[in-house]
Amino acid sequence: MDKIIIGGGRRLRGEVRVSGAKNAALPVMAAALLGDGPTRIRNIPRVSDIGTMADILAALGARVDFPSAHEVVIDPRGLSTPTAPYELVRKMRASVCVLGPLLGAIGEARIPLPGGCAIGPRPVDLHIRGMRRLGASLRLSHGMIVARGGRMRGGEVYLGGRFGSSVLATANVMMAAARARGMTRIEGAACEPEIMDLAEALGRMGARIRGAGSHTIVVEGVRRLRGADHAVIPDRIEAGTCMIAAAVTGGEVMILGARPDHLRAVIEALEEAGAAVAVRRGGVAVRGGGRRRVVDVATHPYPGFPTDLQAQMTALMTVSPGISVITEKVFPDRFLHVPELNRMGARIAIEGSSAIVRGVRALSGAPVMASDLRASAALVLAGLVARGETVIDRVYHLDRGYEDIEGKLRALGADIERTAGRKA
Ligand code: EPZ
Repeated sequence: MDKIIIGGGRRLRGEVRVSGAKNAALPVMAAALLGDGPTRIRNIPRVSDIGTMADILAALGARVDFPSAHEVVIDPRGLSTPTAPYELVRKMRASVCVLGPLLGAIGEARIPLPGGCAIGPRPVDLHIRGMRRLGASLRLSHGMIVARGGRMRGGEVYLGGRFGSSVLATANVMMAAARARGMTRIEGAACEPEIMDLAEALGRMGARIRGAGSHTIVVEGVRRLRGADHAVIPDRIEAGTCMIAAAVTGGEVMILGARPDHLRAVIEALEEAGAAVAVRRGGVAVRGGGRRRVVDVATHPYPGFPTDLQAQMTALMTVSPGISVITEKVFPDRFLHVPELNRMGARIAIEGSSAIVRGVRALSGAPVMASDLRASAALVLAGLVARGETVIDRVYHLDRGYEDIEGKLRALGADIERTAGRKA
């Protein structure tokens, strides 16, 4: 298995360009199943989750080609089976977003239950509720969601849950509703930029969707959708990770492609933490190096502080003087990075769904284990600022969602390299 080795202590300087958003690209790829011809998606990040989604779509019978590194063309005309293979779905929980497109396209879907993952339980009740409200019958059988809908019909759907709305359930309902008979009204819809991007892609395919980006989305079903050409938005989580990297190393980095309108809560938090953030043409510049300050952060659905940057923000707080409280309101158990950060000398205690972080003068490099995508990113940030060498094992977690992270950080002056190990 590959490892990443980081020599800590270098200030990052220069420019970095963010890749396309993985979490926007995945549902748009699934949406391509709804078209009656090929869809071209540009600005696709080169990360392994995209490869997994491509394999799932191919297993369903679609033709998937990558004409260039950041472009995929999906031709759904060979769609021949409603069954997504377990070996692929278990690798990536986001696979559940083929449920809506399969029901919309062929009125049938069989998807293994994605189950839990490193960040805690991952229920699918909101997806199921949404599909039922559109007239599908769903049951769980032998670990599989078995769904039948024929031609779905529009309906009123409420998608609020205990921890807010669900991003992928909103995506699923929007996709199924796009080709349903009649009007669908989604209340309690997720407002994430990735949902707006999906609505835009579906719009290019001929769907009639209003209100994406608000809590109420109205979809007027149409009989057919066409293939389309769409470029996905830049990755706000990668951008935020780079912003925190600049702050934690006391460096100065221009993050090209970062959309300040997608990063308001992150910009606020970083400014409070002592970084200088400037919105420039083409991106966002972050300068660390001043006095670091602690800040309390609670994650929330968009436009709140994203859960996908919680671990990275925690890494910054480990070296800020004082005590900060980081609270998870989206995935209350998402703290797998904490024991690893503590191995590097951080002082973090978990209290329920909060991490209480007591800032230390310095972290010390150590061998650590990546556990999930964003936890791994937090370990990279900690390694950048720690004294000595940090060796991160199980790097495949990072590769699921960060394109060439070591190349990008090295170009900013980090001492970071990857060693290829034996295959797992
Ligand atoms: C998306 O997952 C992202 N994944 C996640 O990013 C992200 O952390 C999450 O949204 C929250 O922003 C993709 O877009 C591919 P949710 P999703 O359904 O849609 C509960 C990353 O690191 N819930 O919005 O699956 C759930 O347990 C990943 O890139 C239900 O209760 O997340 C959570 O508490 C990790 N019932 C909350 O809702 C359901 O049926 C929000 O989850 C579904 C979810």
